[in-house]
Amino acid sequence: MKTLTSCASGSPARLLSVAGYRGSRVVSNHEFCQWIDSSDEWIQQRTGITERRWATPDETVLQMAAAASRDAVQRAGISLDNIDALIVATVSHQQQSPALATALAAALGLSDVPAFDISAACAGFCYLIELARSLVASGAARHVLIAASERLSDMIDITDRSTAFLFGDGAGAAVVAAADTPGISPAVWGTTGTNVAAVGIEPWPDAVAKRQAFPHIVMDGAKVFRWAATEVAAKALEALVAANITVADLGVFIGHQANSRIIDAMLRRLALPDHVAVSRDIRIQGNTSAASIPIAMSAMLEDGSAHCGQLALLVGFGAGLSYATQVVTMP
Ligand code: UT7
Repeated sequence: MKTLTSCASGSPARLLSVAGYRGSRVVSNHEFCQWIDSSDEWIQQRTGITERRWATPDETVLQMAAAASRDAVQRAGISLDNIDALIVATVSHQQQSPALATALAAALGLSDVPAFDISAACAGFCYLIELARSLVASGAARHVLIAASERLSDMIDITDRSTAFLFGDGAGAAVVAAADTPGISPAVWGTTGTNVAAVGIEPWPDAVAKRQAFPHIVMDGAKVFRWAATEVAAKALEALVAANITVADLGVFIGHQANSRIIDAMLRRLALPDHVAVSRDIRIQGNTSAASIPIAMSAMLEDGSAHCGQLALLVGFGAGLSYATQVVTMP
């Protein structure tokens, strides 16, 4: 099995663990179709989704992030005392300040560690991996806890048939640590500089003016679809070059779980061999933005479709338009 060779400067880093948390309420397509003019058949054919997971009122972004984080630290075989930094990705934390990461640090009993949020939407988890890898590479940290948590059911107009049925709630977390050999390749990451508003969350003042409890997700789905299937897929090919591997070396592909047809288009563009295990977690989870990749990764390890030590290509993309893609060794 191919391993990542020295593909970045500084101390190597790897994922020690990953964990996922699914909102506990299952919402089927049939249930959803009471709110929009659609059908189970249409949603399955166009997106691959059969059901999505939503959080109950008690499952806040903090509670879900804490549950995933505790599992990730335990699976890493370390103690919370070992954590040198905590970074959280979220677009659905309902408070501009303080950061969700500071509340998560308090919930976990962490003190005197840097704790801050990033906002990179559905590319968030891949951004977190790159940030954590960089902290380890620079020597600033040996163990970085990264977490992504989203309650997108709060952020949808449930009557909007062009977006509402896509989204779910959940969290994921991982520990990135210093290692003897590299287990994370340098990310190919960026923003397009165009189509900034193709997908995002409406401004708070607009939501207040419309007397909504929360701002809603708005998007031009077709535009995002085309961009992801073409330009982002090309970035994923660049990530393989940056990792100094080819598609033949991959064991796992985990794209952002936005639409099964986007995953299909990426597979065609990347020409992945049949032996590569592909996550279709969107089928039962919906799109959980930054949390989608760690939830999917954890599920593949749990159901045996992926194994520790395999090389996985990760591809995150979303609002901004932002993307990040890298190769990791499965924890
Ligand atoms: O997390 C990152 C951000 N989000 C994404 O990556 C999402 C990317 N985009 C998508 O997943 C897809 O564009 C959607 C799933 C949102 C839409 O699928 P589509 O295949 O692009 O549908 P469309 O908007 O082109 O609409 C096709 C047809 C239209 O009917 P006509 O004009 O062909 O008669 C729509 O009116 O499907 C109709 N339609 C629906 N029918 C039943 C649109 N939404 C629905 C619906 N149920 N919910």
